[in-house]
Amino acid sequence: MLRIGLRKNVFISGIFNRGFTSETVSKLDGKVALITGAASGIGKATAAKFISNGAKVVIADIQRQLGRDTAAELGPNATFIPCDVTKESDVSDAVDFTISTHDKLDIMYNNAGIACNTPPSIVDLDLAVFDRVMDINVRGVMAGIKHASRVMIPRRTGCILCTGSITGIMAGLAQHTYTVSKSTVIAIVSSAAAELCQYGIRINCISPFAIPTPMVMNEMNQIYSGLNDARLREIVYNAGALHGANCEPEDIANAAVYLASDDAKYISGHNLVVDGGFTRFKSLGFPAPDQVA
Ligand SMILES: NC(=O)c1ccc[n+]([C@@H]2O[C@H](COP(=O)([O-])OP(=O)(O)OC[C@H]3O[C@@H](n4cnc5c(N)ncnc54)[C@H](O)[C@@H]3O)[C@@H](O)[C@H]2O)c1
Repeated sequence: MLRIGLRKNVFISGIFNRGFTSETVSKLDGKVALITGAASGIGKATAAKFISNGAKVVIADIQRQLGRDTAAELGPNATFIPCDVTKESDVSDAVDFTISTHDKLDIMYNNAGIACNTPPSIVDLDLAVFDRVMDINVRGVMAGIKHASRVMIPRRTGCILCTGSITGIMAGLAQHTYTVSKSTVIAIVSSAAAELCQYGIRINCISPFAIPTPMVMNEMNQIYSGLNDARLREIVYNAGALHGANCEPEDIANAAVYLASDDAKYISGHNLVVDGGFTRFKSLGFPAPDQVA
C-alpha cells in the first residue's frame, strides 16, 4: 500500500501498471460529532467508525463508567460526557460541552434508546413503561434535535442522525410501545427536515434490523433463559433475510458515516433501512405443488 503525501489520510492501493486503483478516504476529516447512547452497541461502533474516518467524537451516555471506558478504548479523539437524554438540561449541556471542547458541532447522532420489556398484548399494556420508553426513545430524540439545531442554525450547516428501527416501519415485530416509539422517530425526522432544509441542515434516520447488542441480548436472555450467548446470537442472526451476511453494529456505523459525509450532501428527511431487504417482502407461504393432495 502506498501513502500519497498530497492529502492527509488518503491511501491509494493497487497495481498501477495494471490500471487497478482503489482509494480509501477519511470521509469525516475535521468533523465533530456528538453521539448519544455511544457507550455500547451501535453508538460505540459508530463512534469508532467516525474516529477512523477523521472525526472527533463526544460520547454521551447514561452509563458513566462504561462511557468513560469506551472513550478510553477509542483513544484521544473520543471524549465522554454523562448524559441522560430524558433530562433536557443534560442534552443541552452535552451540546454546549461539545462546542466548548471542539468549537463546533457538525454531526449530532440521537441514538440512545431502550427496549420495552412488557407483555405483547395491548390489554396488558403498562402505561408507566410506555411513558418511560417514549421519554427516552422519542422525547430524548426531540431534545437532541432541538439543541443541535440551536447551534447549527446560526452556522447554516450541520447533519443530524437518529436511530429508528425496522419495527417503526413494519408492525408486529416488537411490542406496541417500542413500535410506536420508533415509528415516531421516523416521523420526527420528516417533520424536522421540513424546517431544517432552509438552514442547510440535513436530518436523516437509520432503521436497523435486529442486532445482538447488549439491548437485544438482555431481552433474548429473558425470553430464552438457559441458552448461552452464542446460541442467542445465532437465533437473532437466523431471523435475517439476506443469506451470507449478518446485521452487525458496523453496518449501521457505515450507514451513519455515509449519511454524515459529503457523499450524502443532498439527502435529507430520509429513512435509511439497513435490514438486508427484510421489510421489503412477505412470502405467501403457499405449499409446494408436490405437497398438495
Ligand atoms: N440492537 C438492535 O437490534 C436495534 C435494532 C433497531 C434499533 N435499535 C436502536 O439502536 C439504538 C442503540 O441501541 P443498541 O442496540 O446499540 O443498544 P445498547 O444497549 O448497546 O446501546 C444503547 C445505549 O443507550 C444508552 N442509554 C439508554 N438510556 C439512556 C438515556 N436515558 N440517556 C442516555 N443514554 C442512554 C445505554 O446506556 C447504551 O449505552 C437504540 O435507539 C435502539 O432502540 C437497536
